[in-house]
Parts: sequence; C-alpha cells; structure tokens
Amino acid sequence: MNAPLIQPLYDEVQHGTWSTLYRRQRENLEDKGARLYLEALDRMESLTEATIPLVDQMSSELRAATGWELVIVPGLIPVDDFFALLAQRQFCTSTWVRRPDQLDYLEEPDMFHDTFGHVPPLLDPEFALFMQRFGQIGVDLRGNEKAVLALQRLYWFFVEFGFVEEKGMPRAFGAGIMSSFGETLHAWDLRADLRRFTLEGAMSTPFTTTEIQSTYFLIKDIPEVVRDLEAWHAELS
Ligand SMILES: [Fe+2]
Repeated sequence: MNAPLIQPLYDEVQHGTWSTLYRRQRENLEDKGARLYLEALDRMESLTEATIPLVDQMSSELRAATGWELVIVPGLIPVDDFFALLAQRQFCTSTWVRRPDQLDYLEEPDMFHDTFGHVPPLLDPEFALFMQRFGQIGVDLRGNEKAVLALQRLYWFFVEFGFVEEKGMPRAFGAGIMSSFGETLHAWDLRADLRRFTLEGAMSTPFTTTEIQSTYFLIKDIPEVVRDLEAWHAELS
C-alpha cells in the first residue's frame, strides 16, 4: 500500500486566495444556500475563512459528528476506488488551491471545491447515511456499467448540483454550486425552473462536466432519496 499523502505547507498568497473565496461565497450563499449546509459550515471550527483548513482537523470534527473522515488524493480517482472510500465513510479531497487568477474557473476540482463544497453536509446524519449507502451500493454493483452510470448521474444531480427544499423554498445545496460563485448565481436564476427530483429522472438524465448546467433537480426529502436508492438496488440484486 502507498503511504498516506500529506498536506503541503501553503504560502501567504494561497491562504489569501482561500480567504477571498470563502468570504465571497459565504456572503453569496446567505440568501440562496440551504440552512442544512450553512449551519453546518458555520458550526465547523476547522473550516473557516482565516486560513486553508487542515485535513486532519476537519477529519476529527467529522469523525466526532457522523463518523466520516477525509482522505487526501492527488486528483480525480477511479470510480471503484471512490465508491470503496465512501462505503467506509471516507471522503476524498485534493490539497491544491487554485491560483488567484483562477477564482472563477477551474478544469479540475481543487481543495476549495472538495472541502468548502463537500464537507459541511457530511455533518448531517441523513446526508451522511446517503453517502455511505451510495458508496456501498456502488461497490456492490461494480462492473455493472449501466448501473454505475446511473449512480454517477444521481451523484451529479444531487451531491454536486442538487437543490433541496426548505420551508417550501428551493435552496442551493450541491457542492458544485456551493463552491462556485458563478454557478450559484446561474443556478439561482433558474430556481423557478427546477425539475422535481425523482431517482428515475436523475438516473436517466445525461450530464456534461464541461458546460454550465442547464438542469437542476429539487430534492424534497433526503431520507426519501435513500429509500428510493435502496429499492432500486434491491431490484437489481
Ligand atoms: Fe465534487
């Protein structure tokens, strides 16, 4: 086995970029983001505007709350490895931070996306359970290309670009929205045209990673997504 990767040291410019990203996006999300997400973000002591967060400290906070932890990866990893990590309540993060001239555009997720976008909802027990079951089911269906594609679409339209309903109102939730200033504004403008989430609908909708999104789903109830996922899995087994 390879030795675990270690988080690098960062310079002032990188810490400054982090603070700018955090401050700008936290403000942007105030009236658009799900409370589920924002309350978790604000509660976190290890994920703040001050400096680039320490992966070990975020792991400790997550472990105490829902048993999740973070694993450092060099970049995108094969889908089977990704499922296997999620199945053990391990979420992967990169540790590189974008350059100051990349505040608004990235070809590949950086640490701001991986942590600011993905970590806070892992403090929620219902979402934490969804992510683990998603991983376990992915492991179980390994090699079934059609099923794996369906799971990837579910992940895309829920975990990356989903909206959730809170008090009858749509609120931005997915990490691809929460970690992007421009995507937040774009998605928010389309909030009157969200598609009602169904597992079937998400799993049968293709997505592209290279263009800005035109379809966003509105999730009413996270436990319901878990139940639907279990039923879908049971039918395949
Ligand atoms: Fe992501």
